[in-house]
Amino acid sequence: MSNQPPSHGEIDLDAFRQSGYQLIDWIADYFANPEQYPVLAQVEPGDISAQLPTSPPTKAESLPDIIADFEQIIMPGMTHWNHPNFFAYFSSTGSAPGVLGELLSAALNINGMLWRTSPAATELETVTLDWLGQMLALPSDWEGVIMDGASMSNMIAIATAREALNLQIRVKGMAGRTDLPRLRLYISEQSHSSVEKGALTLGIGQENVIKIATDENFALDPTALKTAIEADLAAGYRPFFVCGTIGTTSSTAIDPLAAIADLAEQYQLWFHVDGAYGGTTALLPEMRHHFEGAERADSMVVNPHKWMFTPIDLSVLYTRHPATLKQAFSILPEYLRTAEGDAETVKNYMDYGLQLGRRFRALKLWMVIRAFGQEGLAARVREHIRLAQQFAGWVDESADFELLAPTPMSNVCFRACPPSYQAQGEAALDQLNAQLLDAVNATGQIFISHTKLRGQYSLRLAVGNIRTTNSHVESAWQLLNDTLHQIKSLT
Ligand SMILES: Cc1ncc(COP(=O)(O)O)c(C=O)c1O
Repeated sequence: MSNQPPSHGEIDLDAFRQSGYQLIDWIADYFANPEQYPVLAQVEPGDISAQLPTSPPTKAESLPDIIADFEQIIMPGMTHWNHPNFFAYFSSTGSAPGVLGELLSAALNINGMLWRTSPAATELETVTLDWLGQMLALPSDWEGVIMDGASMSNMIAIATAREALNLQIRVKGMAGRTDLPRLRLYISEQSHSSVEKGALTLGIGQENVIKIATDENFALDPTALKTAIEADLAAGYRPFFVCGTIGTTSSTAIDPLAAIADLAEQYQLWFHVDGAYGGTTALLPEMRHHFEGAERADSMVVNPHKWMFTPIDLSVLYTRHPATLKQAFSILPEYLRTAEGDAETVKNYMDYGLQLGRRFRALKLWMVIRAFGQEGLAARVREHIRLAQQFAGWVDESADFELLAPTPMSNVCFRACPPSYQAQGEAALDQLNAQLLDAVNATGQIFISHTKLRGQYSLRLAVGNIRTTNSHVESAWQLLNDTLHQIKSLT
């Protein structure tokens, strides 16, 4: 077998096979023990690029050489989202079946823009999203479409809502029109920044993104929403879109979806639910009461790449108005015309969003759902919620820590507030917690992140990794306590 690639065409397939086997072994070892690595990359900015050649190779290099560099140069610069002690942001993990799905998808390398460019990709997407909808108890007439992330899903939802207004924005645009009222869009002050970003991208304007106050649980206050809508109507504006979140990014607050649905109906707003993270909890019958009102939404996003063990990226936008979504985005140049598309006997996913070229993402989700089963997925998510609630209980009982928000899902917002610091005021507590965060993350043993809630610096510990167990959460709690004592003893 030759290590020398030919001068044209594909590389030697025996070399590919050998490296491929080696890499599957490597991945299996990695998944068996990601704890051999520090969870947060222990490198400084520029450390990795300094080890890489500044110009590309002119001659072919062998796969073993490339893989050796991957291990020696790239791996030390990786932050390990697969690590069971990854508790930062929303801890999204992939899984072995998801990786195999990605592998096959990369190998097939199809572009699923049209049904005919890979019929199975289109049909598997439709079927898998229908399954997912059933698993999440979504209304059966909703249709889903796979997007890269929730930021895109949120933006596409806004664009669809704008199209539903029938203000001819698709044709005439928004600029320089005296016949167009100011469009107003409502989110809560805790909504994810991507909703606002989507509005900016679509020319709605930041001034027209109205951030509604939240209650003591960080959930949108429907009375404040009603007041804002009425003030805008009185000013001659056009309220058109409201977003409720199930599982906000900072504290996983749950907006009152039924009350928002009532207002959306009363004032004829498009009601979008951002369930990028929390949508997955609808797998659990005991969590479904939080979703009351979501069944009246016009659209909803859920991200299997956040909490359903599907490798990033894969977000799903569901809507009860697929025809409006299509109307917002469909353009049919001659070179993309097909007989079955014209006859409308098939779905061409290019019509349901911005992307023309589309990866075969449904494959990995289908493999994940089949390999774990609905019950297996639900059991894992339920366990993550249990672990987080247990951690929240320890925080609550501790004299040195306090909770800063309720823990309805698997993310705990808390801070250190030892009695000796309490008299020093909020600024000192913020500083202490920032120091604690840096210190625990620097150990490489755990990775947590932070947010601000009502101006207070909050640590965030989110459980969502497929490998996280009781002992990991216990060790994280121990490390936080030990590190706090060290900091206290130095001051
Ligand atoms: C509630 C919510 N919506 C949207 C997003 C954006 O998700 P993505 O990274 O898939 O664009 C996030 C990310 O954490 C989120 O928490």
